[in-house]
Amino acid sequence: MRYLDVDGRRVSVIGLGCWQFGAGAWDFDRVLSEDGARAIIERALELGVTLLDTAEMYGHGRSELILGRVLAEHRPPAGPPPWFLATKFTPLAPLPRVLVRHCTASLQRLRVPQAALYQIHWPNPLVPLRWQMAGMRQVMRAGLVAHAGVSNFSLARWRAADRALGRPVLANQVRYNLLQRGPERRLVPFAAREGRLLIAYSPLAQGLLGGGYTPQTFPRDVRRANPLFTAANYRRAAPVREALREVAAAHGATPAQVALAYLIAQPQVVAIPGARSLAQLEANVAAADLALSPGELVRLRTAARRFRPDRLRSALELGRGLHRRP
Ligand SMILES: NC(=O)c1ccc[n+]([C@@H]2O[C@H](COP(=O)([O-])OP(=O)(O)OC[C@H]3O[C@@H](n4cnc5c(N)ncnc54)[C@H](OP(=O)(O)O)[C@@H]3O)[C@@H](O)[C@H]2O)c1
Repeated sequence: MRYLDVDGRRVSVIGLGCWQFGAGAWDFDRVLSEDGARAIIERALELGVTLLDTAEMYGHGRSELILGRVLAEHRPPAGPPPWFLATKFTPLAPLPRVLVRHCTASLQRLRVPQAALYQIHWPNPLVPLRWQMAGMRQVMRAGLVAHAGVSNFSLARWRAADRALGRPVLANQVRYNLLQRGPERRLVPFAAREGRLLIAYSPLAQGLLGGGYTPQTFPRDVRRANPLFTAANYRRAAPVREALREVAAAHGATPAQVALAYLIAQPQVVAIPGARSLAQLEANVAAADLALSPGELVRLRTAARRFRPDRLRSALELGRGLHRRP
């Protein structure tokens, strides 16, 4: 495992996304039980994963509860725990006292006195950022949170959040994968320049880059609303899948591992793939040690640059699919 240093705390470049645990969106109880989730979290800790990402929203708190039960059993007898625990505030009414109350409730579910990172899950333009960040300052001052973070923020908003907080907002968690490379324009260079963290969510395009799906086998869970899971976009993504397969073959790796290795080859970028089996978790963690050559990075970027989603056809397909029963 490789780590980034954040004020003396180690952040693993491959983290564990915990949305899959407890969430109906991912058919949790049908696909994975609490024991299954527990085994994945324990194995992640064993393999040196320190970055654990959850949210109050995932499974309405169930993801935090499951994670909290496991972490409570793995706390070292002395000294600070080795993990970098990140959770998120749902900013429906992001007033300072609401944020403080929600943060306290998250920590109770997680059974920890402090989160390493507390993220505003998405921008709420209806409430001034200075109010939202006033709440963030309170939880930081009280020691409930070590670092402030945001999620789904543009660069302009991230900078505005810095100003509102009165200090750097450490991290921005955004959708970033080989088919959705928007963050490379401004967010990745900013994070690199300023020593911030860019946390890549959906780094496998929700499993599409794993190479195991075809339009005939697309999953019928939360991904029914993902425009990448349409026949139109699947066809257009063929050159990216081909590039992934080619590079993977040269390393004896899998396309999913190469997709992750591409992201974490970018400066100050860490990825938080979700996993629904031990095998997936282990494969994802191993991607941290997969070094791609400059030529391979160019090969992947070139294929990815040519990917243009078919918005119209995929919207039509999604419209039809959403009305079909699973
Ligand atoms: N901040 C935000 O707004 C936001 C939004 C979304 C997610 N997130 C966070 O980011 C995390 C990850 O994002 P995500 O879950 O959307 O997408 P993802 O990590 O790209 O995809 C996860 C899915 O990919 C498949 N998979 C995992 N490892 C694989 C492997 N080695 N080979 C092949 N397939 C593999 C699994 O599904 P199948 O096996 O069923 O295909 C898994 O559920 C979440 O858990 C959450 O913590 C944050």
